[in-house]
Amino acid sequence: MVLSGKRILLIISGGIAAYKSLDLIRRLRERGAAVRPLMTQGAQEFVTPLAVGSLAADHVFTDLFSRQDEQDVGHIRLARDCDLVLIAPATADLLAKMANGLADDLASTVMLATDRPVLVAPAMNPHMWAHPATKRNVETLRGDRVRFIGPMAGEMAESHEAGVGRMAEPLEIVAAAESLLVEGPKPLAGRKAIVTSGPTHEPIDPVRYIANRSSGRQGHAIASALAVLGADVTLVSGPVNMPDPFGVRTVHVERADEMRDAVLSALPADVAVMVAAVADWRVASAADQKIKKHPGESIPTLALTENPDILKTLGHHTMRPRLVVGFAAETQDLENNAKAKLERKGADIIVANDVSPATGIMGGTRNRVKIVSRSGVEQWPDLAKEDVAARLAALIAERLRQG
Ligand code: C5P
Repeated sequence: MVLSGKRILLIISGGIAAYKSLDLIRRLRERGAAVRPLMTQGAQEFVTPLAVGSLAADHVFTDLFSRQDEQDVGHIRLARDCDLVLIAPATADLLAKMANGLADDLASTVMLATDRPVLVAPAMNPHMWAHPATKRNVETLRGDRVRFIGPMAGEMAESHEAGVGRMAEPLEIVAAAESLLVEGPKPLAGRKAIVTSGPTHEPIDPVRYIANRSSGRQGHAIASALAVLGADVTLVSGPVNMPDPFGVRTVHVERADEMRDAVLSALPADVAVMVAAVADWRVASAADQKIKKHPGESIPTLALTENPDILKTLGHHTMRPRLVVGFAAETQDLENNAKAKLERKGADIIVANDVSPATGIMGGTRNRVKIVSRSGVEQWPDLAKEDVAARLAALIAERLRQG
């Protein structure tokens, strides 16, 4: 397991996102980490120490002046006796205390006393995150070598307000923790990877476009997973509602032709994983001005033209990466279509998934894939997209190692 033997001090501060910390504890422990929880007073308003302690299977530290806790561990040891201090969720208040060296409760005292790597997953109202005071504090903390994961864009739990402030998802936090904790020679160190992700938007006119339901979840997770294994990753992403992954160079594009240009200019690479749901067609000549509706006039027809096939271009390129991986989103005859695609596109591996609406895969959080290569077909179980990504990254590392 990736995090076997790793000891993580998890500080939970007071925000509604604390409910996600329960899942985070499970995810960390699933990967072999030992989790020692510390809760602020505020955190205990949102989740109970009993729930946290049960999931962590450890004592929950809450009080700076607890005689018992001080005898057993002591806050200085608590601060240093771990491989990583992870704060999730981190409130604006706790960040402010850390940036200014305040130590008026157990969490802030531990933060002042620790000499371990610190990873912070902030969660707060978008206005609080955007406030100049918070921005100053975050800058200060970055200067103090504190690492951040998130916050993410999206809807807030409490107010239906949208903006940046939502805590990163537990698996994103786990991936960030892994990339800080997993030591030793990483299997993809020194390798370059290019990943595409998300949909493309093909303009009809300045305000309208053709798109598809791709969320970018799978592609972004693969970019993260490759980075965790030490690869130097360029992610070329279409328009998505997802944060740039941790430790990955992300290039944002809208159209397929922009995506191709960005991919080609990221060459050379050892591996390319083309996950984007690139639009097959674009409007032959997008209008410069908004197409107006005139009563009584005929309805416009859209003449389409073919988009560049990025995977196929790479598969047959003079600078072809050693390993070229494509995806095949199909609604019927999955395996045969994937095998045909392997040949046509010049790919080494096709990851085939059934995207019929009933599967909920497109835009969903889980995926069930078949790995199709010239050496055969392998069915993987139903997995979280992050777990598909981790397995695929391991497979890529193995293939590259074999040469
Ligand atoms: O032919 P199809 O669209 O089913 O192929 C899917 C695979 O090809 C995916 O890996 C996708 O990222 C890639 N692709 C591409 N450029 C296109 C169309 C698909 O890179 N224009």
